[in-house]
Amino acid sequence: MAESLTKLAFLCCFCLSTLLFSQASDSILPTKSLPDGKFIVSSNRTFEMGFFSPDGSKNSFFGIWYKIISTGTVVWVANRDSPLNDTSGALTLTQDGNLIVLNTANGNVLWSSRGNYTSTIQNPVAQLLESGNLVIRDANDENSENYLWQSFDHPSDTALPGMKIGKNLVTGLDRVLRSWKTSDDPSTGNYSFLLDSHGFPQLFLMGSGSVERFRYGPWNGETFSGSSRGKKNLIFAVRFVFNWKEIYYTYHLINPSVFTRLVVNQTGDLQRLSWNPRTQAWTTLVYRPADICDSYGICHGYGICNNSNNPACSCLDKFKPQNEEDWASAVWSGGCVRRTPLNCTNDGFIRYSGVKLPDTRNSWYNQSMNLEECKKMCMKSCSCVAYANIDIRGEGSGCLLWFEDLMDIKNLGESGQDIYIRMASSELGSSGRKAKIIRVCLTLLAVILLLGLFLTLYKWKKQQKRHMEDTQRQQELTREGNYEIITSTLLDL
Ligand SMILES: *[C@@H]1O[C@H](CO)[C@@H](O)[C@H](O)[C@H]1NC(C)=O
Ligand SMILES: *[C@@H]1O[C@H](CO)[C@@H](O)[C@H](O)[C@H]1NC(C)=O
Ligand SMILES: *[C@@H]1O[C@H](CO)[C@@H](O)[C@H](O)[C@H]1NC(C)=O
Ligand SMILES: *[C@@H]1O[C@H](CO)[C@@H](O)[C@H](O)[C@H]1NC(C)=O
Ligand SMILES: *[C@@H]1O[C@H](CO)[C@@H](O)[C@H](O)[C@H]1NC(C)=O
Ligand SMILES: *[C@@H]1O[C@H](CO)[C@@H](O)[C@H](O)[C@H]1NC(C)=O
Ligand SMILES: *[C@@H]1O[C@H](CO)[C@@H](O)[C@H](O)[C@H]1NC(C)=O
Ligand SMILES: *[C@@H]1O[C@H](CO)[C@@H](O)[C@H](O)[C@H]1NC(C)=O
Repeated sequence: MAESLTKLAFLCCFCLSTLLFSQASDSILPTKSLPDGKFIVSSNRTFEMGFFSPDGSKNSFFGIWYKIISTGTVVWVANRDSPLNDTSGALTLTQDGNLIVLNTANGNVLWSSRGNYTSTIQNPVAQLLESGNLVIRDANDENSENYLWQSFDHPSDTALPGMKIGKNLVTGLDRVLRSWKTSDDPSTGNYSFLLDSHGFPQLFLMGSGSVERFRYGPWNGETFSGSSRGKKNLIFAVRFVFNWKEIYYTYHLINPSVFTRLVVNQTGDLQRLSWNPRTQAWTTLVYRPADICDSYGICHGYGICNNSNNPACSCLDKFKPQNEEDWASAVWSGGCVRRTPLNCTNDGFIRYSGVKLPDTRNSWYNQSMNLEECKKMCMKSCSCVAYANIDIRGEGSGCLLWFEDLMDIKNLGESGQDIYIRMASSELGSSGRKAKIIRVCLTLLAVILLLGLFLTLYKWKKQQKRHMEDTQRQQELTREGNYEIITSTLLDL
């Protein structure tokens, strides 16, 4: 009798423990801790988390890595700047919903999610999702809006699909990618990838001491102004969200069975990698900076960079090197200056086509103005040096104004945009009266002759363009009140 009772009790215990285990295999509950050497795997086995030591390192870190593709590629590290030097680490969820990494040998807390959730949480649970996101939530609430904390909001060096890079303007949360120091040391390195919201928002790759390495350029409705348009990809779609609540960059997979990640690597490059199941290795799809013209501000003020020229820098038309001698020996510092100074009241504008728009950190913008209003706005202020459309789709819309020397312009040819730069009236064309009259007559004649041809051509082209837009660029635009969500599948980061 006693024997069978014991047996029954044992069986019950066994059942209960397997039940508990199978129910929460991707989760951790309060009072349970995850020691070094034990792991938690996401529901479909895509990601795994636990303690790891990078190759060649004696230190131990808590992190998340790919499980399904077995290279142990780490995508997130909790205690990156406070490693353990032995195997006494453990991850614990506190009763009030705080996730901590502690040294069990001495009780020191090395890292915490720093949650202060006492007022809201009843049954906290920490769960590793299939997306690679480690979240703290209420056990009965799976709504992602109500997560108390998530690792996606505190990235290491990697942006996974669905992760945001940028700012929540309401809470002040800023999600920045930061490189590892070296391949065997995940502590915070010198390079970062972030969204700068001064002026019109832009993405920057930064080096040590907040030196700009690469600037993506403002989002132009299709892509970032610095991207090469035209190349399309079938792996991921980029999205830029810009509204009163938040500004961020994100991407999602078009084909969910392909693995891709965006990394700021230890040597300071931004890399988009994709997993090749045949070779069992990561391949680089795109990287930046990709050429000399990607180096931020290489040609300085009013200089323009063309990668196929040698030397790459030249002055914009109607501008001259500030220091001819330096410029002749390929020293670009000082940049370019106007041949003719501005007058303010009598100035006009010259259009420069096919460029990556200059740095917009000191720009002013209005997304509902048209180009004509934009020009008038710029004319009103003597310190306004240039204007351009924000959105290049269709006939173009929005207004960007620049008030400082134009920096970091790249010649992109077909992929580039138009910018209108303020110019002294004497630079706008010859001023001789006779020449003017002759020119007007000739132009008139030419216009009349060409008008018919042009109209037919325009109609045809517009049809073609619309067709191209529909079929080639799987692009969507959704407007919900203040929300603007744009998706682009052009091949860039
Ligand atoms: C897990 O895999 C199954 C089968 O492939 C799929 O139906 C399910 O949607 C996946 N779940 C997640 C969270 O990815
Ligand atoms: C490990 O770190 C502790 C302090 O956290 C230190 O006292 C100890 O000497 C270190 N051990 C080794 C082997 O470096
Ligand atoms: C936690 O929240 C309480 C109540 O809102 C507050 O008084 C306390 O200062 C907070 N603690 C921390 C560490 O933020
Ligand atoms: C980071 O930058 C600092 C200062 O420029 C430099 O001394 C250090 O070597 C750099 N670290 C790495 C890992 O490149
Ligand atoms: C960083 O990315 C660049 C560009 O893809 C690559 O050449 C370099 O080897 C990478 N560095 C490391 C440490 O992987
Ligand atoms: C601008 O040009 C006008 C007419 O040529 C002249 O009267 C005015 O003084 C000039 N203003 C400046 C600031 O040079
Ligand atoms: C932007 O331009 C529109 C149209 O000119 C105007 O109605 C609106 O007030 C402007 N917004 C700002 C913030 O200047
Ligand atoms: C760069 O310069 C070369 C040679 O001058 C020219 O053929 C090419 O069109 C320029 N590139 C762009 C993108 O304009």
